[in-house]
Amino acid sequence: MTIQWFPGHMAKANRELKENLGKIDVVIELVDARLPQASRNPMLNETAAGKPRVIAMMKTDLADPEVTKAWHAFFEERGETVVNVNAKHGKGLKDLLNTAVEVGKQTQARLIEKGVSPRAPRAMVIGVPNVGKSTLINQLINKKTANIGDTPGVTRQQQWLKVNQNLDLLDTPGILWPKFEYEDVGNKLALVKAIKEERFIAQDVALFLINILKERYPELLKDRYKLDEIPEDGVELFEAIGLKRGCLIRKGDVDFEKAAGVVLTDFRNEKLGKISLETPNDWKERLTEESEA
Ligand code: G4P
Repeated sequence: MTIQWFPGHMAKANRELKENLGKIDVVIELVDARLPQASRNPMLNETAAGKPRVIAMMKTDLADPEVTKAWHAFFEERGETVVNVNAKHGKGLKDLLNTAVEVGKQTQARLIEKGVSPRAPRAMVIGVPNVGKSTLINQLINKKTANIGDTPGVTRQQQWLKVNQNLDLLDTPGILWPKFEYEDVGNKLALVKAIKEERFIAQDVALFLINILKERYPELLKDRYKLDEIPEDGVELFEAIGLKRGCLIRKGDVDFEKAAGVVLTDFRNEKLGKISLETPNDWKERLTEESEA
């Protein structure tokens, strides 16, 4: 099943985002380090065209460090500015702030040349639901305010926040886009809870994850589920995990729904280890095709 989820409040948030871009000096684009490209909003290339951007790779503590390094290099090669952040543990915040202020100042300098009075640069923070935006913003403004949680798509209004004399922030609600251009994007976003549980079939998403783990992290699977070997076939592997975990409908018959819950919870709670769902190589061809189109 292809996953899609674009509720009305996100369409509205997208419109508001567009309206406010004129007031912004820099866009801080939050991406999940486990799926750095799949969690980027492709609409931004159009809506924020020409606006300087800083990519903040969020939740780096959950991703495979080697793959995160590769993503960092990949984005930089493409001329993007990227900063690694682990908001939960307050890492990378200074770097992100300094970078955003620096980039924002460059836009400001151009405005000042045109006669606009100097002011603190303004940054807009955008990202998919559950990327860690509230956690980050609360850290930046040193406050424990609203809405940290893992219910994707909790509607919030745009709001201006003062970080310090050097930077004003426009917080925006977590948004997705109307159509996921590739099937794996929906699955990956579902895995990291950017999509409401009711909008996807847990077994499908768990099988998608199992296939990635089978290819890239077989040792982690063996360790976690005490498997001697990894079956070639993803469904057989799913079944083997269910059997090991005692997820049974009746003797010998695996309850796949229950097994899916186990695998998804293990992934999300870091019980499987640090996992990246994609590498730059998975995207190189796609991005080249897109830029040539
Ligand atoms: P959002 O505003 O973008 O929707 O995300 P929010 O900050 O609400 O964060 C969503 C979940 O991600 C929260 O967990 C939060 O703690 C967690 N989180 C945020 N940043 C990081 C990070 O850098 N690393 C890790 N590992 N987790 C992060 P939660 O499910 O509500 O549970 P809890 O962890 O707060 O108990």
